[in-house]
Amino acid sequence: MTENPRDTGFPLPSRMLRLGFVGGGQGAFIGEVHANGALLSKRWQIVAGALSSNPLRAKDSGRKWMLAEDRIYTDFREMAAREAGRSDGIDAVVITTPNHLHHPVAAGFMDAGIDVISDKPLTTTLADARDLVRRQRDTGLVFGVTYAYASHVMVRQAREMIRAGMLGEIRQVHVEYFQEWALNLTDEDGTPPWRLDPAKVGNAFTVGDIGTHAAHLASFATGRDIELVRALFHVAGKPKALEDTAFMHLRFEGGVPGTLMVSQAAAGTQCGLRLRVFGTLAGLEWNQENPEFLSFTPQDSPMQIIGRGYGAGMLPAAVRFVRMPRGHPEALTDAWANLYTELAVAVDARRTGRTVPEGLLAYPTVVDGAKGVKFVEAAVRSNATGDWVDCGL
Ligand SMILES: NC(=O)c1ccc[n+]([C@@H]2O[C@H](COP(=O)([O-])OP(=O)(O)OC[C@H]3O[C@@H](n4cnc5c(N)ncnc54)[C@H](O)[C@@H]3O)[C@@H](O)[C@H]2O)c1
Repeated sequence: MTENPRDTGFPLPSRMLRLGFVGGGQGAFIGEVHANGALLSKRWQIVAGALSSNPLRAKDSGRKWMLAEDRIYTDFREMAAREAGRSDGIDAVVITTPNHLHHPVAAGFMDAGIDVISDKPLTTTLADARDLVRRQRDTGLVFGVTYAYASHVMVRQAREMIRAGMLGEIRQVHVEYFQEWALNLTDEDGTPPWRLDPAKVGNAFTVGDIGTHAAHLASFATGRDIELVRALFHVAGKPKALEDTAFMHLRFEGGVPGTLMVSQAAAGTQCGLRLRVFGTLAGLEWNQENPEFLSFTPQDSPMQIIGRGYGAGMLPAAVRFVRMPRGHPEALTDAWANLYTELAVAVDARRTGRTVPEGLLAYPTVVDGAKGVKFVEAAVRSNATGDWVDCGL
């Protein structure tokens, strides 16, 4: 077995960093995934939270997370004010609420001088997204957005292979994300869950949810922004006012064409996020359900499967995240831990004034989050008009 050669290059923080959560308590989905990733990074402790919209559940969840009684909050505004006033207050807040609360929660904590880690989509409107970009620029606070798939080792590997020219010139990019869980989701009875309520989810359902993940993954891996989109929205599952399926043509920087297909009403699928990139010399493919492997196929040559691990085939910007030798699986939680490792470096550097080595960090920022919101807005407009629509911020 190859010895763990790991010098990750990520400086340790000057002390353990302190994290607070808004949302993520009992019954919630993604909050616990954030928490697991943060703890696995070994750089964060979770010390405070307003974990639910329901006060009883917020209290109960805080106790289950073993938070000190005086740091279990039932109101995120009170949490921001009180944490900002403590000498041992949180270094960053994690926002895992429904979409419409991302902006007010982020703005509230930024006003209190606290760094922000927000889930996607960044906001429900472009005006709010631009407001957060401006606030970040004005304050210099760290603002990460948790497009966590981009922190899988083999996505970093794909990005580095593309950067190194191993595919030649990029000529086509195709990304798809298929799930089935919303097949029977409906708002027919007049009481939509938050994910189907435009006041809470924004003006798109599936495109805002997994469409933004797919768009970010394609841009991140190829190093190219999406410049133009032409989209058609559909409802493939039970009736709903917003789309649960969308098919799009894309135009990336440099005129590179691509496609993006998303559905949350595709029976028999699970979490099928797949990226394919084709260049003048070779193509590659990565699939989220089998994330430890990347297929790389030079033209007219046998397919090579590159497995995550130390040593042969792995490039430095990817191998620095490897925790286990080949054959011992890593998983989504490890990708989240990679993201939280980078965020810890950024937050600690801002606090202490340390300089981060150029090119060390690639976590998604508030600008990436705002590009996602613009992408959703452009897709909605294109679906309505049939036109190609500009995705530039
Ligand atoms: N990055 C990813 O891979 C990923 C995956 C799933 C969801 N998400 C995003 O994460 C967010 C949450 O999604 P989810 O599936 O966990 O939703 P969820 O409905 O399961 O959980 C939302 C949580 O927010 C809490 N909440 C609501 N209002 C609150 C308030 N005012 N104060 C404190 N807490 C409040 C709820 O009580 C609940 O705990 C969404 O924006 C979603 O798009 C991201």
